[in-house]
Amino acid sequence: MMKLSDKKATLSFSDGSAPIEFPVYSGTIGPDVIDIRKLYSQSGMFTYDPGFLATASCESSITFIDGDKGQLLYRGYPIDQIAKNCDFLDVAYLILNGELPNPAQKTEFDSLITHHSMVHEQLHFFLRGFRRDAHPMAVLTGLVGALSAFYHDSTDITNPRHREISAIRLIAKMPTLVAMAYKYSLGQPFIHPQNDLSYTGNFVRMMFATPCEDYKVNDVVERALDRIFILHADHEQNASTSTVRLCGSSGTNPFAAIAAGVACLWGPAHGGANEACLQMLEHLQANGGVAKVGEFMEKVKDKNSGVRLMGFGHRVYKNYDPRAKLMQETCKEVLSALGLEKDPLFKLAMELERIALEDKYFVDRKLYPNVDFYSGIVQRAIGIPPSLFTAVFALARTVGWIAQWNEMLSDPDYKIGRPRQLYMGSAVRNVPAKH
Ligand code: CMC
Repeated sequence: MMKLSDKKATLSFSDGSAPIEFPVYSGTIGPDVIDIRKLYSQSGMFTYDPGFLATASCESSITFIDGDKGQLLYRGYPIDQIAKNCDFLDVAYLILNGELPNPAQKTEFDSLITHHSMVHEQLHFFLRGFRRDAHPMAVLTGLVGALSAFYHDSTDITNPRHREISAIRLIAKMPTLVAMAYKYSLGQPFIHPQNDLSYTGNFVRMMFATPCEDYKVNDVVERALDRIFILHADHEQNASTSTVRLCGSSGTNPFAAIAAGVACLWGPAHGGANEACLQMLEHLQANGGVAKVGEFMEKVKDKNSGVRLMGFGHRVYKNYDPRAKLMQETCKEVLSALGLEKDPLFKLAMELERIALEDKYFVDRKLYPNVDFYSGIVQRAIGIPPSLFTAVFALARTVGWIAQWNEMLSDPDYKIGRPRQLYMGSAVRNVPAKH
């Protein structure tokens, strides 16, 4: 629960109207917030904050980011400790329930997820309605939204049991749906889940196995993907999470709310950055490689060029994204285990990073590599095509979206989201007579 601070905030006006006092609340860590809920009733004014740069939209206990320190906590645990000591389903349990599972809870949770990974057979036919060359995020947005039509026995959001089942279904079925979207694009048969594999091992098999031969999941690949999932599991009130909360605030069912999150994640400034980052590296490699990095960086710094260094910069981190460090470590491990140490794209990325970290433009703006800078290289080495990167992100982020949606529904202060505006259109006017 947020704590009322001794401090108060006072808003005064230059026109002589009476000042207004607002309560200030403190969280466990992080900046205090000024409670302006009564601002409109007391002053007739709204606040103006495009992009919500200065607005805490909710109270939350799930994830904490200190952007200046480059710190990320899941339920209080630092991301590097989590990444080194937990698997993705430990993290999913932690994010959903607030604590890491004990061995019995872990066994039960793993089994529950495993036994919900198969999808309704009819979904295969629904998927077949898409063009084979459709973007996987277009397919995923449709498939996740469609789950509400296939699993309408768990869409009553006022029923805690329905909420629990839909959460398990979404987490369990996401890998199956992403792998199905991939297999469909290749024209290969769908591979059903196999219950003796881990969550991530099962995803790897559904992606890369064919019915023609046995498939053995490579440990390094499984570990690398598991880390990608862990690093993407939740990230506070980012655009897609806020979308899920706003969409869910109307009381819609969780499948519809998560589909909205998938759609938001697709954008190149958010989840689509990993695909855009790899495309940028490939383009640069095809047009001169390391020798042309300097020239490319000049374009990035030229505001008229419209070119951004993808995988760099973050709305909250004004320091090295802690996930980027872990991803760089995984990148080295995967490339070495797969005999790809000389990967030219990795070399290119390291060179871009080196230059950027020394360049005044990036230093002044506190632009550092974010998680997407290296995740594309890892996924490409594993054999995941760039068009599927954001779908892999969506798979992992589903855990965070559901936890945040659940937290919102349990919050006594929860209301339908309804931002206001500063209207700049025409004042009232009459339609001309001839109309
Ligand atoms: N390359 C070049 N310049 C940049 C970049 C970049 N990647 N990012 C920010 N800037 C500049 C920007 O032009 C602006 O300069 P000025 O002050 O001179 O106008 C300044 O830095 C601040 O940028 P901003 O766009 O106001 O910052 P923001 O907080 O609104 O945007 C961002 C954050 C992530 C959208 C942006 O940094 C960006 O577009 N990065 C590239 C895309 C990317 O990698 N996104 C992944 C984010 S992490 C994964 C996720 O959470 O989904």
